[in-house]
Amino acid sequence: MTEITMAKMSQLSETQKEEVRKIFVTSYYKDMKTLHRDTERLLGGFRRLLQEDLIRVAMDGDRPVAMVGCSTNKRRAMEVNKEDFLSNFGFIWGHVGYFSFRKEYGEPLAIDDDTLYFECVATNEADRRQGVAGQMLLNLIETEPYKTFALDVVDSNGRAQSVYERIGFREMHRKKSWIGKIFMDYSESIWMSRPKHLPGVPE
Ligand SMILES: CC(C)(COP(=O)(O)OP(=O)(O)OC[C@H]1O[C@@H](n2cnc3c(N)ncnc32)[C@H](O)[C@@H]1OP(=O)(O)O)[C@@H](O)C(=O)NCCC(=O)NCCS
Repeated sequence: MTEITMAKMSQLSETQKEEVRKIFVTSYYKDMKTLHRDTERLLGGFRRLLQEDLIRVAMDGDRPVAMVGCSTNKRRAMEVNKEDFLSNFGFIWGHVGYFSFRKEYGEPLAIDDDTLYFECVATNEADRRQGVAGQMLLNLIETEPYKTFALDVVDSNGRAQSVYERIGFREMHRKKSWIGKIFMDYSESIWMSRPKHLPGVPE
């Protein structure tokens, strides 16, 4: 089991920030490769996406091993930059990507003031299955001043679903996704949530 500490992406060095962006791009490569198959292009297109003050990073010593966006009803942790998309993915795919991402990430979330929403959970490939994602989320649930924690997971991502269930998240409802069906491998996204304190578990 890897022992982690938590940091804000905005507090990291430039080299560490680049590591976080690589974790993000390589973890979601399967979903992003429609836009471009080259990782360097993807890194360019998504360079300004992660809103560093809202990204929490799990560190193994000085090394970033996982990340998660913490969004509220005021701000999303991901903000698509049209210029970066067009210059890295070209006119057509740049626009397709921009409008798709805007639809997914462009609107503030319809959640209450007491809810924190986790998005784009990702663990560095070499550090997976060592409890990192579970520890990272549990750490935030303990330390962040919210009553409810929520996230979305797609129906084709059984691994992520089981991680979230293991740490107390439960399915609330499902939503059909045309973006997932056309460009990716899923047809529904599953909304899961958990209270800060699980009933019957001593604090
Ligand atoms: C989903 C993801 C974030 C999980 O990260 P992770 O750090 O490997 O997660 P954990 O280690 O906490 O849990 C993963 C599994 O490892 C197991 N595990 C935890 N500690 C372990 C250990 N010491 N030894 C062996 N297995 C262990 C967990 O039981 C869990 O098993 P399960 O899937 O059968 O429940 C990671 O696979 C990832 O980045 N995937 C790509 C991006 C993605 O899909 N993100 C989620 C979008 S909603």
